Amino acid sequence: MTKIAVFASGNGTNLQAIIDAVRRGGLAASIELVVCDRPGAYCLTRAREAGIPYFMFYPRKYPSKAAYEELILQQLTEAGVEYIVLAGYMRIIGLTLLNAYPQRIINIHPSLLPSFPGRDAIGQALDAGVPLTGVTIHYVDEGIDTGPTIAQRPVFIDPGESRESLEQKIHAVEHELYPQVLQEIFTQRRVFNA
Ligand code: GRF
Repeated sequence: MTKIAVFASGNGTNLQAIIDAVRRGGLAASIELVVCDRPGAYCLTRAREAGIPYFMFYPRKYPSKAAYEELILQQLTEAGVEYIVLAGYMRIIGLTLLNAYPQRIINIHPSLLPSFPGRDAIGQALDAGVPLTGVTIHYVDEGIDTGPTIAQRPVFIDPGESRESLEQKIHAVEHELYPQVLQEIFTQRRVFNA
């Protein structure tokens, strides 16, 4: 059973998909900790309801990224966490965590990277008028959505499609793909030369 921590900042629907997959027996992982940087974020309610311990911190109360990441690292180490799974965590991971978890931090992003990295990838795709976007799962490096790709899935954009509709389509793909790819990584059915 791979021990993971899920980092989230918002609604946490991907966190929920991971919780549900673990419960169903579709993901051989145990979620040891949820890490969240926003008080009141719904992902915290999801963690509480699932009985998962969480660590909520106020980034602004720390002098630096290294200072709060040091504290997070302490918690991860105590909990024996092997992989960090980012699920809508809106902060750039710093060297403290990157060095402690080389090739063991995974992110999901709502576009076909390298297109539309950074914030509001769905809005970026709509503004660009492209007929196709998608979902990327990748390892995290020190850049913004630049790490080696693990898996991608396309999502077509219909002419005149609303943001809400595209968001729904992308989320549906994410919720299926993320637990599935994590399972492949943890059971080493997928080997990457990242
Ligand atoms: C997802 O679209 C994910 O790709 C991106 O942030 C969003 C998080 O959504 N990194 P949720 O909080 O899991 O609902």
